[in-house]
Amino acid sequence: MAVSEKHTIAVLISGSGSNLQAIIDASERGEIPCRVGIVLSNKEDAYGLDRAKKHGIPTEVVSHKEFPTREAFDRRLIEVIRKSGAALVCLAGFMRVLTPVFVQAFPHRILNIHPALLPSFPGTHGPKQALDHGVRFSGCTVHFLDEGVDTGPIIVQAIVPVYDDDTEDTLAARILVQEHKIYPMAIRLFFQGKLKIEGRRVRVLGEPKIPEFFHRNPDA
Ligand code: GRF
Repeated sequence: MAVSEKHTIAVLISGSGSNLQAIIDASERGEIPCRVGIVLSNKEDAYGLDRAKKHGIPTEVVSHKEFPTREAFDRRLIEVIRKSGAALVCLAGFMRVLTPVFVQAFPHRILNIHPALLPSFPGTHGPKQALDHGVRFSGCTVHFLDEGVDTGPIIVQAIVPVYDDDTEDTLAARILVQEHKIYPMAIRLFFQGKLKIEGRRVRVLGEPKIPEFFHRNPDA
């Protein structure tokens, strides 16, 4: 699939940026029809900024601490993203709750990734919540952002087993491997025009039906 120069995306991060890296790599391999046009971070020491720079991608730090309200912070983010011309906004480990001002600025054009099988275990520490609850499977979710916390329409999910000797770190690491697969997948489906939002549901046009549920994992 050829990368179309007309689609650029904005990626918002706060930390390591391994999902950002997966998106950059998928773009450079031509697996998604877009390129990362700007990386925004609310933290100046986010390692993801270094990752972006290594690939020649423009970065900008917008510290939430410099704004009197959440809305004022969001308005600055909106300004930077609009200037970049991004057609899609991807939250990738961005640790700030965005207000309706932000959500309404890019209707149905903001994706988020969460390290749990939503609607279970929203908010922070998804892997720990899953361990504490004692579930046998957890996973990750890419969804459209709405005005709630991790409540928007679900696009792609992947599952991982939870083992008895798991710690929060081992489970989070297993989930992260799947995150790196499903985020580029969701972006590809978005730009292919295959996602149709119907209320809470997202229909994926042309999705093949596979009888075994575990085959729904992207690497199966
Ligand atoms: C990921 O687990 C993501 O689901 C969550 O924050 C983590 C970010 O990891 N929202 P990274 O910065 O992409 O490495």
